[in-house]
Amino acid sequence: MSIHQNVKRMTVPQLRACKGQRKIASLTAHSSVFASLLDEYLDFILIGDSTAMVAYGLPNTLSFTVEQVAAHTAAVVRGTKHACVIADMPFGSYQRSPEQAFESAAFLLAQGGADAVKLEGGEVMAPTIAFLVKRGIPVLAHVGLMPQHVNTMGGYKAQGLDDETAAQVKRDAMAVAQAGAFGVVLEGVAEQVAAQITAEVNILTIGIGASAACDGQILVTEDMLGLNGAQVPRFVKRYADLAGDVKKAVERYADDVRAGSFPESSHCFGVKPKTK
Ligand code: KIV
Repeated sequence: MSIHQNVKRMTVPQLRACKGQRKIASLTAHSSVFASLLDEYLDFILIGDSTAMVAYGLPNTLSFTVEQVAAHTAAVVRGTKHACVIADMPFGSYQRSPEQAFESAAFLLAQGGADAVKLEGGEVMAPTIAFLVKRGIPVLAHVGLMPQHVNTMGGYKAQGLDDETAAQVKRDAMAVAQAGAFGVVLEGVAEQVAAQITAEVNILTIGIGASAACDGQILVTEDMLGLNGAQVPRFVKRYADLAGDVKKAVERYADDVRAGSFPESSHCFGVKPKTK
């Protein structure tokens, strides 16, 4: 069911107003064609830095650049009319200083056409989030399992399963809420912790591997559509097997070409239609 009845693009204040009213549904996209298919069903679309892995085959997200995110964001904006568009701040584009973060975020809004940015980090990034928000840049924070911290975390590990990390994730979520973020992605966070945070903060919590207790959900589109190989994290539910469908279609096409049964006369120019 479409959530958009001829409405304009969803704004950040409209998104935020959904807290406690209804759940937020979101997915990632990086191309115009895919974004146009997702648009009418979603509240926001994220141009995630996971694009580095799913579209470029890179081993992690670390080498993605702000220019690449901006180009993919512009493609997604061109393909959409309804969903709010949020661009991920890639590794190294915001951690050095609030000023560096402002320059990168402004580039994503001005050149990419994003409505807001997402960045990883809790307490540590709170001053940067406040700096951006005060200067007109809406921020979605991202705490818990932070893929850009893969090297310090020693892998992609769920957070909040022990007292120490549970307390840290809560402090991080509180800090970004106080700093003015309009929402926070909780990735790989224990259900109880996600539920407590959702009850305590007045901003949206968007879960990915953080249970239905959150105010909304996000997944990587390639994962949920079954486009992304056999290995997906356990928090992903597969809603389709597009890889299987694509392979079957391409096999049929290749067989037809080799058998000479494609193209047919209806696909060719300068062939007179048969008269009865
Ligand atoms: O890069 C990404 O795709 C993300 C997610 C929250 C899905 O950060």
